[in-house]
Amino acid sequence: MAPKFFVGGNWKCNGTTEEVKKIVTTLNEAEVPSEDIVEVVVSPPFVFLPLVKGLLRSDFQVAAQNCWVRRGGAFTGEISAEMLLNLSIPWVILGHSERRSLLAESNDFVADKVEHALSQGLKVIACIGETLEQRESGSTMSVVACQTKAIAEKIEHWENVVLAYEPVWAIGTGKVATPAQAQEVHSELRKWLRDNVGPEVAATTRIIYGGSVNGANCNELAAQPDVDGFLVGGASLKPEFVDIIKSATEKQR
Ligand code: PGA
Repeated sequence: MAPKFFVGGNWKCNGTTEEVKKIVTTLNEAEVPSEDIVEVVVSPPFVFLPLVKGLLRSDFQVAAQNCWVRRGGAFTGEISAEMLLNLSIPWVILGHSERRSLLAESNDFVADKVEHALSQGLKVIACIGETLEQRESGSTMSVVACQTKAIAEKIEHWENVVLAYEPVWAIGTGKVATPAQAQEVHSELRKWLRDNVGPEVAATTRIIYGGSVNGANCNELAAQPDVDGFLVGGASLKPEFVDIIKSATEKQR
């Protein structure tokens, strides 16, 4: 059986209280496929997590956009996994390329964060992806395999991991990967998981695509056999996020 379609909305560093309430109202009023067909997780900035958690419909979940690599303590400005759990926030996005590049988060550091978050009971959306330069030099697969390997070496259980393939050149650029480009990397990643972790993990781990997904391109991407959902940035702040959620029905055809 195909794993359940997953749609994540990464709001990044956007929004005011009023804007956040407006997005949540749109989501709460939306008619979407049932929870059996699609899992929806939205990720507001830390400061809005309790507000969104309190207002959001109960069939949608909430994710933080990061968390600290160890237990809390003397780490000014950080948020620990335990704090997220204390607020009943079940998910966290880790290893987003904006953090890997701007804050120099290495493969090892990201893997340590994934390991710690899982060990505390969070579910993780782990992001990987190549830059334009890496794609053009033909190293896409070795880059994403290396990022995945760092994680695979540190964790034993994959049930609470969603792997988000997000080519850096497609993020926020309007330059979406073609369905064939996405399918190619997703299928290679699944093969990598099969060969290096195991057939069960390869068959059940959701591999989702991120990078300029919108209401117009989501159906064709969702129809690709190895695309198990999306991580959506810009379009998750807009009403078209509902259309992206609905693209889960492509898997029912
Ligand atoms: P985008 O961002 O949809 O705006 O390209 C995706 C992401 O960064 O997760």
